[in-house]
Amino acid sequence: MKRIGLLTSGGDCQALNATMRGVVKGMVHSMKGDVEFIGFMNGYKGLIYGDYRKLESRDFSGILTKGGTILGTSRQPFKLMEIPDENGLDKVAAMVKNYKEAKLDALVILGGNGTQKTANLLSSKGLNVIHLPKTIDNDIFGTDVTFGFQSAIDIATDAIDCIHTTAASHNRVFIVEVMGHKVGWLTLYAGVAGGADIILLPEIPYNIKKVVKAIKARSDAGKGFTVLAVAEGAISKEDAALKKKEYKAKLSERKYPSVSYEIAAQIEDMLGNEVRVVVPGHTQRGGGPDAYDRVLSTRLGSAAAQAIIDKDFGCMIAMINNETKRVPLDKVAGHLKGVDPDCQMIEEAKRIGISFGV
Ligand code: F6P
Repeated sequence: MKRIGLLTSGGDCQALNATMRGVVKGMVHSMKGDVEFIGFMNGYKGLIYGDYRKLESRDFSGILTKGGTILGTSRQPFKLMEIPDENGLDKVAAMVKNYKEAKLDALVILGGNGTQKTANLLSSKGLNVIHLPKTIDNDIFGTDVTFGFQSAIDIATDAIDCIHTTAASHNRVFIVEVMGHKVGWLTLYAGVAGGADIILLPEIPYNIKKVVKAIKARSDAGKGFTVLAVAEGAISKEDAALKKKEYKAKLSERKYPSVSYEIAAQIEDMLGNEVRVVVPGHTQRGGGPDAYDRVLSTRLGSAAAQAIIDKDFGCMIAMINNETKRVPLDKVAGHLKGVDPDCQMIEEAKRIGISFGV
């Protein structure tokens, strides 16, 4: 009999349930039912404070298409993990203790970058940990793709599509602000898929004059509207040249709710056009997974089950060249995967006239 713990941590995304289903089904079929599951509630919180319960394999049935996470989630920043909580509790020691008390053979942790760093820390404490790469941001180093990314692209693309028709009718400039934290994957893919005219990414600091020039070139060519896909982490050339501290201080004084509103105000000033900003926000993480993510998460989950059976721990199950691979956590934790500004996709996008504001 094996006892497998599961937890979902950090911001949610579309295929968390589908991935857990893959793990559970993979275990049940391989172990011929000789396996028990323990669900930790609300991410690492459940592991720290001992909030866990036994789950049946049927609890993971019918959830392939269900968004969110049946276990709940929370953000427990890695940088606070080794700092005692408000009651002096040593969180890492508490997690080790609860893992042991729950008599686990393995703990499967679904989450993004921060979650992965804590998973690596737990692995270094001797826990049998497997990490599964979740995030709409697609910024996890060591895997080609994360689950949630493709579903979020679909939603952000829909938002850009909807804006296109109204922008064209009103001859307006529209900015659609896309999530993605510090990286531009989601904006790049949704921007290209949605036919955005200008795409601004954190990895390619923009020059506002070049952005305005691109809009003007369109109107000079008789195109009355322009759609910009702007990453929430987009940054101007001037700001990118600042030291981290200076940039933080500048941000704390910014009078706009986000970078898109600042860009909109600058365009209005420089061109005299009216500019509208649309922020789809958390809708990009909402709803169920698309077909691509259902396949990806089922494969990753099933591969995690095999790693447990093989007793191969301390790894992330990655998708590399369409094959699932076990990547050692200590090789990837703490690294971020951003868009390479010189990659082929950017080159191809530029060739068809998309401006990156440079
Ligand atoms: O990491 C996923 C993500 O949706 C990012 O794209 C975004 O910056 C962040 O989470 C939002 O976090 P929260 O849900 O805490 O507002």
